[in-house]
Amino acid sequence: DSIDLDLCYQTLLELVKQAEELIRNGINSAKEIQLKSCEVDLVTETDQQVEKLLISGLKEKFPNHQFIGEESTADGQKNELTDAPTWIIDPVDGTMNFVHSFPHVCISIALLINKVPEIAIITNPVLGQFFEARRGQGALLNGNKIHVSSVNELSKALLSLEVGTSRDPEKMKVVLRNVNTLVPLAHGIRALGSAALNMAMVAMGASDSYIEFGIHAWDIAAGDLIVREAGGVVIDPAGGEFDVMSRRCLCASSMELAQEIVKHIDQYYPGRD
Ligand code: IPD
Repeated sequence: DSIDLDLCYQTLLELVKQAEELIRNGINSAKEIQLKSCEVDLVTETDQQVEKLLISGLKEKFPNHQFIGEESTADGQKNELTDAPTWIIDPVDGTMNFVHSFPHVCISIALLINKVPEIAIITNPVLGQFFEARRGQGALLNGNKIHVSSVNELSKALLSLEVGTSRDPEKMKVVLRNVNTLVPLAHGIRALGSAALNMAMVAMGASDSYIEFGIHAWDIAAGDLIVREAGGVVIDPAGGEFDVMSRRCLCASSMELAQEIVKHIDQYYPGRD
């Protein structure tokens, strides 16, 4: 049966407005913090509340849809991306930032149908940055069209790299080696602490590329559509096709820049989502 994407979008928007309020209220309050996979992989009650609000609201309206959510996964739910309409949700991307009241935090959410992203929202309610995209309709920041930068060579590029939320020695070695390689070749290196916002920066032309190994589908599903709708590219860091469940991501303002970066970096292959 056909899916009413406008209804999906409107329903999501209403829920997101309520969820934003939870983050705005939570960021400067005392937080209850729990550890997940390790000492730098955290969850707060706000992460859990936001995910619950979004999933229960969407389920009520769309009982046949599927969900892949960061905190539901941490609670033992299995992830499987099928052709069914699937909402991929990170309730608080940048949880470490949230814990420290560093204001780069966002909700990241995408709807995929037949594994194709149709709707994406990345919203930072603390700084008032609302990024959105619908397939084929471009990407917007606070209602205005955005476009990736015109930078297409590494020597002029501002890059985002993240170590991520694991301290796996093998991965750290690769990431630090890549920092070593890229710093002398590029304009500069940044790490915002949120995969989704790193991608949003590429989409709005504020940075030129973002590379990470070990992220999860919920960190990058919305960013994938928003970057591509803003005219950028999202690929596998070894140069092939992007796979949202692969835990590997490279996005850039152009394919030329993306492939130049590919030539210089070392690779790491985490287990799939
Ligand atoms: C994390 C952030 C961080 C990235 C990690 C992610 P979370 O997401 O996006 O920037 O480096 O790989 O896990 O845990 O804050 O939702």
